[in-house]
Amino acid sequence: MNTPSTPPIFPTTPDTILPLVLEVMARTPDPRLRQLLCALSTHLHQFVIEQQVTEREFEQAVKFLTGIGQETGETKNEVILAFDLFGVSTLVAMLNNPPGHDRESSTAGLLGPFWRDRAPVCQPGDSIVRSSTPGIPMEVRGVVYDADGQPVANAKVDVWQASPVGLYENQDPTQADMNLRGVFTTDAQGGYFMRTVCPSGYPVPTDGPCGELLAAQLRHPNRPAHLHFMVSSPGHKVLITQVFADNDANLTSDPVFGVTAPLVGHFTQHTDGDTTTAQLTQDFHLVRGELVYPHPPIP
Ligand code: BEZ
Ligand code: FE
Repeated sequence: MNTPSTPPIFPTTPDTILPLVLEVMARTPDPRLRQLLCALSTHLHQFVIEQQVTEREFEQAVKFLTGIGQETGETKNEVILAFDLFGVSTLVAMLNNPPGHDRESSTAGLLGPFWRDRAPVCQPGDSIVRSSTPGIPMEVRGVVYDADGQPVANAKVDVWQASPVGLYENQDPTQADMNLRGVFTTDAQGGYFMRTVCPSGYPVPTDGPCGELLAAQLRHPNRPAHLHFMVSSPGHKVLITQVFADNDANLTSDPVFGVTAPLVGHFTQHTDGDTTTAQLTQDFHLVRGELVYPHPPIP
């Protein structure tokens, strides 16, 4: 029989379960894992009690989590998408990439579910359009700088974007493998130069549990037009970011909360006779750190 001073061995009321759970979590040898598991258990228990979660709601939560795992495969990563839709991916990017001394906000952004590693290596001025793709031809150039404001030669600028048809090449059998993906290397002055097509807005995948969630919330799925970049150089933290078209109607309602002020680019257009070309000039600023690439969300 328990005395008032010893904790119960078996839980008797909802709030007596957590201390027992924490006692078990506290035995985790790795200190950081221990800290995270204790905090997560605490938040989960508090959430369930505060919201008086019903058995039906718990079942729905399990169904959602099971579904995002089952929907993850070659063409999309629904688990990352779920974190994106809750704003958690942008939060993690911001927390871990504080603004530099000369900037007010972070220039890093979410990775998203569509980065593939081993995109084709490109030469300066190459086009990443690898099969018939609609859209205004666009030139993208800029300079990669280090934390001291010096240009970084031989930095890798990995770029990927959706086709203006609204799909990434891995989602669309009509596009060539690696269409609209490429890795450029900066020249001695830190400069890069590529050709592509102007990006268009497109919907995040809505054919899985995340689509059901968006529908239940009356949220639209359309990301504003953007290009993704991953800029890297030895001795620097990998910069993962996106650059958004400044005239997109959905800039302030991105379903994955990915747009921050410094990520809105300045796109221009130039018409010469019958030919219209768009231009984007986008510099990148690296910070010192370890060169660690993310795990690709899709193969
Ligand atoms: C994307 O930019 O491709 C993307 C990002 C987050 C969720 C879905 C798609
Ligand atoms: Fe994207």
